[in-house]
Amino acid sequence: MDKAPPAAPLRLGVNIDHVATLRNARGGRHPDPVRAALMAKLAGADGITAHLREDRRHIRDADMPRLMAEVGLPLNMEMAATAEMVAIARRLGPHAVCLVPERREEVTTEGGLDVAGSVDALHGAVGSLLDAGIRVSLFIDPDPAQIDAAAAVGAPVVELHTGAYAEASDASAELARLAAAAARAEERGIECHAGHGLTEANVGPVAAIPQVRELNIGHFLVGEAVFIGLDEAVRRMRAAMARGRQAGTIAKTIAGGQRR
Ligand code: PXP
Repeated sequence: MDKAPPAAPLRLGVNIDHVATLRNARGGRHPDPVRAALMAKLAGADGITAHLREDRRHIRDADMPRLMAEVGLPLNMEMAATAEMVAIARRLGPHAVCLVPERREEVTTEGGLDVAGSVDALHGAVGSLLDAGIRVSLFIDPDPAQIDAAAAVGAPVVELHTGAYAEASDASAELARLAAAAARAEERGIECHAGHGLTEANVGPVAAIPQVRELNIGHFLVGEAVFIGLDEAVRRMRAAMARGRQAGTIAKTIAGGQRR
């Protein structure tokens, strides 16, 4: 049998929003999301993700420059495509921005951006962020029309919403949608990321999708930190991602061999 070719690297962005949720439950400074980011870095995170929401329910403005100055990892700023947020991002200059839909009443980011339905509005925000030297991704459902619209607004990256996959009782159809969307993104020259609802138990098949280059994971890791510590939670997640990636490479090699 052919030796499996090495898979492209898969980065882990650790989302520390819910450390800030816990901090804000009491006010004050503890637990500090910057300390969590440093711990995630030591445990092997490739980047830090933080969502500055319009209502500032978890991450606050003052956290952002500290995350950039004190952690020493690329910062991926999640935000709505509003004029206020675009101005903040341009002033801060994070490594990346991920544009997400935002509704005040939602508990978390419940679905992807409707890029296809707001091409004109997003074109300006994406262009303005790219002009400031910021990598821009769009958080979208794994839908071919949204990938094509992301290409139309000039986004170099998309992040596929994995919430439906994470919640499905039979995940195979959702996984097929993710794999097809990732392949389409690559065809359109768009880098593909994924995230939302990923856990140590369900991350493997997503990590196995070869076009996916980055996963952004938060809630599960912060929850696990209560039981095993954030550093161990990040290490176990990295190991689960590596196992999934490797399994995907082997499956691809076997499928290639069978076709010959
Ligand atoms: N990626 C994006 C764009 C998100 O909005 C979120 C949630 O804030 C995540 C990833 C992480 O999702 P979770 O906290 O469920 O791991």
